[in-house]
Amino acid sequence: MVCLGNICRSPMAEGVLRHKLNAMKNTSIQTDSAGTSDFHVGEAPDKRMRAAAVKNGIDIGDLRGRQFKKSDFDEFDLIYVMDQSNFQNVIKLARNENDVQKVKLILDEVFPGEGREVPDPYYGGEEGFQHVINLLDDATDQIIAKYID
Ligand code: 4NP
Repeated sequence: MVCLGNICRSPMAEGVLRHKLNAMKNTSIQTDSAGTSDFHVGEAPDKRMRAAAVKNGIDIGDLRGRQFKKSDFDEFDLIYVMDQSNFQNVIKLARNENDVQKVKLILDEVFPGEGREVPDPYYGGEEGFQHVINLLDDATDQIIAKYID
């Protein structure tokens, strides 16, 4: 799961997916998240995102920001990006067509081919954080149905 800062959308995406996999007792899928920037490396998720997560019964307090790196293409089979800008940033690091094929806009799982984005809640109000969780809840349901069920 990849966004810009790795303190709002992508740790939440990781948290929602991890929460569902844990409930399914699935231990074979490895989840992680990263930012395309190095702005928040080593930081815990944004306090507002953590609080919204807790309201939804999800704990993301253990996650720490890190920057996406080329070796992530070797570590992961699927790389979900939150918006078009993250998509471009990750694609720029791709070394070959195999890398490129791994990168997907996460909301394309819910709205195929529409190119929709998970809005960045960082500069907005509280409601933006719940909206992000709702979108990621729908997207991770689709991912689980597609790849795991
Ligand atoms: P995220 O949100 O990409 O969802 O983690 C942001 C967090 C911080 C910044 C931008 C987006 N920032 O510019 O510091």
